[in-house]
This record gives sequence, C-alpha cells and structure tokens, in this order.
Amino acid sequence: MACFFRRRIAAKLGSTLQHPEEAFIPAVTAVPVMKKQQTADFKVSVSTLRVNGILPSRGDIQLQTEDLACKLKQDSVVEEISAGRGVINFKVNRKFLAQKLLEPFGKGDDDKFGLNSELLVSLKRGTTLVEYSSPNIAKKFHAGHLRSTIIGNFIANLKQSLGNNVIRMNYLGDWGMQFGLLGAGFDQFGCLEKLKQNPLQHLFEVYVQVNKEAEHNEDIKQAARDFFRQLEQHESQAVSLWKQFREITVTEYQRVYKRLGVHFDVYCGESFHQDQAQEVVQQLQSRGLLKTSEKGTGVVDLSPQGDMSSVCTLLRSDGTTLYITRDIAAAINRKEKYQFDEMIYVTDKSQENHFSQLFQILLSMGHSWADRCRHVSFGLVQGMKTRTGEVVFLEDVLDEARARMLHNMSQSSTTKDMDNPEDTAEKVGISALNIQDFKGPLQSDYKFDWDRMLQAQGDTGVFLQYTHARLCSLMQRNEGVQAATFDPSLLREHTSVTILQHLLRYDEVLYQSAQDLQPKHLVTFLLKLCHLIAAAHRELPVKGSPQDVAQARLRLFSGACSVLANGMRILGITPVDKM
Ligand code: ARG
Repeated sequence: MACFFRRRIAAKLGSTLQHPEEAFIPAVTAVPVMKKQQTADFKVSVSTLRVNGILPSRGDIQLQTEDLACKLKQDSVVEEISAGRGVINFKVNRKFLAQKLLEPFGKGDDDKFGLNSELLVSLKRGTTLVEYSSPNIAKKFHAGHLRSTIIGNFIANLKQSLGNNVIRMNYLGDWGMQFGLLGAGFDQFGCLEKLKQNPLQHLFEVYVQVNKEAEHNEDIKQAARDFFRQLEQHESQAVSLWKQFREITVTEYQRVYKRLGVHFDVYCGESFHQDQAQEVVQQLQSRGLLKTSEKGTGVVDLSPQGDMSSVCTLLRSDGTTLYITRDIAAAINRKEKYQFDEMIYVTDKSQENHFSQLFQILLSMGHSWADRCRHVSFGLVQGMKTRTGEVVFLEDVLDEARARMLHNMSQSSTTKDMDNPEDTAEKVGISALNIQDFKGPLQSDYKFDWDRMLQAQGDTGVFLQYTHARLCSLMQRNEGVQAATFDPSLLREHTSVTILQHLLRYDEVLYQSAQDLQPKHLVTFLLKLCHLIAAAHRELPVKGSPQDVAQARLRLFSGACSVLANGMRILGITPVDKM
C-alpha cells in the first residue's frame, strides 16, 4: 500500500533532517500518472517543507533541493532519489511496488484497500450528521432535491468508510402554510382511494389545484388559514389528516430511495420543531438578541456594526415562526440528541445565505459547536426532462434512466443472457446520473443531457460500469488460473507500472474529497483508472501467456477491479458484474 512507501520516505527525510518522521507523511505525495511514463513514484515539495518550518525559508530553493537530494540515501526499497524543480523525486523498487500494492487483494479484505492509510487518520472525527434530500411534502421533487440526495449520500458514504459514525437524516418540508392549503384542498379535491393508490401524484394534484383555486377564491384561503391554525393547535382531526399525508409520503419515498441505493437513519422535519422554535424565540428575547422591527416582525441584528443594516427575521408580525426559526431549533435539538461532532447540510446554493445566518445566530446564542456545522452547496441543473415532459417526481427520472439504458443495452449481444436486464439497466442508468453530476465542481450549474451521460465511451458512469463488468468477466473466465500467490517481478511493463502508480494515489484522492467534500477528485481518479485498464486489456493479455505471467496479470486486474468497485460504492453506485 501507498502508506508503506510514504512512511519509508518520511523516515528517510526524518533522520536526515533530524525531525520526527510523522511531520513528513502528508508531504510525501504520489506523482500523478501522465501520458508520458513517469519514473518517479513519489515527490516531496521543498517549498512545503519550508512553509512547515522544517527547512529554513531563506536562500535559493533549487540549491536547497539539490543539497537535500544528495544527502538522502537510497536503499533496496527507495531505489532512486533525485532533485527536480523544487521537488525531490523518489522511485521505488518495481518488485516491491507490485508486491506491496497487490498483496492485500488475495486476503479477502479488498474493500479496506487504502482506508487504513495514516493520511486518513486525521479525518476520523467521531459522529457526523449528514442532512440531505429533504424534499417538501406535496411539492415537486426537483433537480435540486435529486442533487442533494446523491451528494449527501456520497458524503455520508465517504465519512463512513473513513471510520466515522454517520447519521443520515432527511429533514422533510412538512410544515407551513402549504399544509393549510393542502388540508383545505383535500376536503374539496381529495380522494382517499387515489391517495392510497398513488400518494405522491395525488397530493401533488390536490396541491396544484388548491393553489389555483386560492388565487381567486377567498373562502378557500380562509379555510387554509383555519386548517393551519388547527394544526398548530394540535387539533386531532387536522393532525390526523396531516399525519396520513406525511406517513404515506415517507413510505413512498423510502421505496424510491431504495432504487437509488439511498437510505436514511432518521426522517424528521420542520414540524418536529414547531414548539421548540417558540422556545428559541424566548431564549433570544431573554438574551436581548431579538429586536422588533418597524414592521412588527422579530429580527436578529447580524450587522457587524450593530446598526440593523443586516437582519434576519425569525418571527412574523402575527407571532408565527419561519423556516430559519425552525432550523435553529432543529440544530440545537440534534446536538442534544445525537451529540454530533460535525453536521453537514446539503442544499443548492440559493440557501447559502440562509445557512450562514443560521450558523451566525447559533454562535451568537453561545453554541460554539456551530463552528463545526457546514453547508455544502451546489449549482443548478438546467433542462432535467423526460420524454413525457417535466420531472415532478424522483421516480420519473429513475424510470427514464432505466428505460433509456435498457434501450441502449438491447443493441448489445450480451443483454440476451442476462438474468435481469431491467435491474442492470437501472444500476447503470443511475451511475450515469451520478457521474454526470459529480464530474465537475459541485458549485457549477450544468445542463442535464441524457444522450451524453449514457454514452458507453467517454467519461461517463456507463464507462465505469462497463469497465467493471469486463474485469469481472475476465476474472470469471480465468477462475482456474488465479492463485493465492503471484510473482511481483513479472509486472514491469509500462502499462502495469502505470496502473500501480495510479493506485498509489487512492488514499490521497479520498483525503482530498474528504477535505473539500467534492466527489470530483474520486470521479476523475476512477475514470483515469478505467482508461488505464482499457489499455491493459489490450497490452497485457492473460490468455496465451505463460501461467506465472497470467497469474501476475490477473492479480493486477483484480486489484484494479476492487479499487474501482470500492470507489464506485463510495460514490453511491452499485457495480454490476455483467452488462
Ligand atoms: N425542504 C427544503 C427545500 O426543499 C430543504 C431543507 C434543507 N435543510 C434545512 N435544514 N433547512 O428547499
């Protein structure tokens, strides 16, 4: 594994520079694989050592680099040490490289590869609460909710694989005036039978209808206000209808999330914090933080000068609470209940201001843990449509991805002998959605494009799945050839070495993604891996090679396959064995 070499190089630097070797571990980085063959496997930037105060930051940096390279002694593992431009390059023994990297794959804990790296230890933070998806009952499940769902799932998976205790939470939009409308609307347009048959569809229809009606009908507006007041006062009839809407929605969502490979430990919602929100208001009042504005609303002054030039409204003039008030109450409640060490919220970037105000208010109330709350925001998706038109429900997107993928697959000969082509099409279709979404920086907006994301070649989720399936079939065909041991000295070709060098970076890539919570590092790594594997299929034949060569190559392929599968799972993709 990479950490074996990293430690070895760090120890060398430590003894030469008379410094604890730990200090060098993060400075030793694997050299990214390029078109041209790289001789060096690892490098250490001298300016980093200067910044860290390990080397004096005066004097010519190049002279310092060359001087240090001369002082470091090579050995049987680290065979070559040389000075580059401001960096020291290290080349490790090729046999050790293959041995250390591929050894773990024969032992049945393939899914741990890279995860025990000392680089990742500092990322273990205890309990992480990730809140994501969080759709609104009776409203559209829009592209933003889809993004939140898959991004949040990725973050939760990543945190979990790094050894954190993860709580996955869905915070439903299940409160507010819209439920007044829905309640009043259900009286007029609702049908219990339809609600049971197709809950999301029916609730949405009622909601659309009642909104239209409310535009010109004062009676229905009044009925909505009455219904919501009854809800706030916990009147049993209203509450029971509301409960029914909520339960039926959650059950339906759970079914659809399952198709996506997503689950939640906790379903909560704005409704849960209705009463606590009033308590928050009282606390703010008693601390003198709540001011009354000219309009009679309750506000918190967030301006640095304290001149009310930037305020956040927590209370309407009629005394009812708002979205942010409930979020303050919810955060405090979660901290008490789950004792999280960090909390992550995933929503689109239109809510950036909301979360920055939320964290600011929590801090002003003395909740210093708000420093460990983070908002991961993402850009907008344009043009998410299906053949039948606009997307209203999550299921529409999944159905469309599956149908389109099934159509593409029907043109390939292998589909015929598949047990369950629909299931494969679903998994591959979902990976296409994921990769399209994860390829760029999350902050960027992008244009949804079915044709492009479903291409078999190019940087798509289909290409990842195809590569995985092809590796699985290679392994299967050669089951009899694979052995518990292999001769690492037989993996010296450029193509083999390049794959090994690439695998050296896996823990660094996880580190990067865990730092900035951006999936793109892992996506780029896996796509590159797939391109290298494609070259290896051409240049490293198994069939027709002498047995020992075939065994060594199979070990390389199986290692690459495991890392690919592990990485895909973290992204929220289920690898398929056949396609
Ligand atoms: N339900 C909200 C929406 O659809 C998202 C909730 C985000 N989470 C939160 N704690 N405010 O916009």
